[in-house]
Amino acid sequence: MQYPLLSVAVTLAVSFSQTAEVCAWLSSHAQNAANLYRRPFPVSKLGVGDRQGSTTGRCVRVLASSTDSTEASFPRRKGIVDRSTLTLLEHINLNAPSHEHIVPFYFGLLGCGLDPRKAANLSPNAPKQTLWANCGASQFHLPYGDPAQTLPGQIGLRFESLEGLKNRLDDFRSSYVTAEHGKDKALGQDYIRIVDHYGNVFMCRAKSGSGDPTRWRQPIIPLNAKEEWGEIATNYGRLETECKGIDYVEFDCPKGTASKIALFYESVLDATTSTHRLGDGSSIAIVAVGNVDETGRSDQSILFRETDKTIPEYDGHHIALYVGEAQADFEQAFKNALVADVVWCNPRFQDQVDSLEEARKERQFRFKDILDMDTGERIMELEHELRSVEHPAWPGRSIDCE
Ligand SMILES: [Fe+2]
Repeated sequence: MQYPLLSVAVTLAVSFSQTAEVCAWLSSHAQNAANLYRRPFPVSKLGVGDRQGSTTGRCVRVLASSTDSTEASFPRRKGIVDRSTLTLLEHINLNAPSHEHIVPFYFGLLGCGLDPRKAANLSPNAPKQTLWANCGASQFHLPYGDPAQTLPGQIGLRFESLEGLKNRLDDFRSSYVTAEHGKDKALGQDYIRIVDHYGNVFMCRAKSGSGDPTRWRQPIIPLNAKEEWGEIATNYGRLETECKGIDYVEFDCPKGTASKIALFYESVLDATTSTHRLGDGSSIAIVAVGNVDETGRSDQSILFRETDKTIPEYDGHHIALYVGEAQADFEQAFKNALVADVVWCNPRFQDQVDSLEEARKERQFRFKDILDMDTGERIMELEHELRSVEHPAWPGRSIDCE
């Protein structure tokens, strides 16, 4: 694949709806986005990346496919100047010990759609197992697990407007779920901050601008499918999801580590990243997912915000990402992860990938450690499930894109 706009050195990658501080930074710097300093490509002591140094921007995109044939299914939007090697933040996995709280929360309040691949688990006599709550191109994977998992940070959700959510909140009865309405002063944008039964924080905002940054769709139980799905369709069927997608996921990270985390994503995944100092002297790392436009905004992002707070011990939650635009991109990412010695098999799951052959077979692999690329020491744990676009669950597989 060719990257004709790659030479434009946009380093800032912010998803469409971000936190107030990042939005303020973006507002003040967007005009000069193309002139922002881009860090020379790091030379890792671990030797990750077969790339050459440069002071002018990304030099070799090691995850890029050499084929042009996929280009037709990835139309460019106006104003796109870069494309991260991370294509889609697909799911966030959060264990929950029962369906009691997650069903009304995800399907009723947030307006997610029920994925048909796990819908039978809601049948009256089904064993209590995983549910998938879908929003646009993304999903929440909600397996049974005790204790519940809590993401240390927040999840940014995108809605068409917040009116429906406000109405549903008025009717939502739970003494454990809290909601707070506010406005991002920098952009004058309303938000609703919801904390679920288990302490997970969801920042809900109306989408800004036109178009859909994540144009693929996960399947959902449709409305009026009673013949096939019975009461499940009556209770959970939808024409479309109210929540349109996951804009970003933000993790707390220790002070002094944001730039190192960005370096890790650059080195191992060749992702487009940026690190910014905030008003309180802390820093935030932004990892772009999807396209980056001329203002520096990316379709989705993974954020790492430095904090003085005690960060809870990692509890095993995970995120899943699709890599690149072809199998070759995925394989390059796997090779990089092998060199960095971070490939990891989670005994909890069926896929046990520790070789290229296994990665080709499963079309995914996992890693958990985010490393300091200078010392090799672990900065933090966060399981990543990295998938090829050849993975059978790739949501773009059956979608005719524009
Ligand atoms: Fe997963």
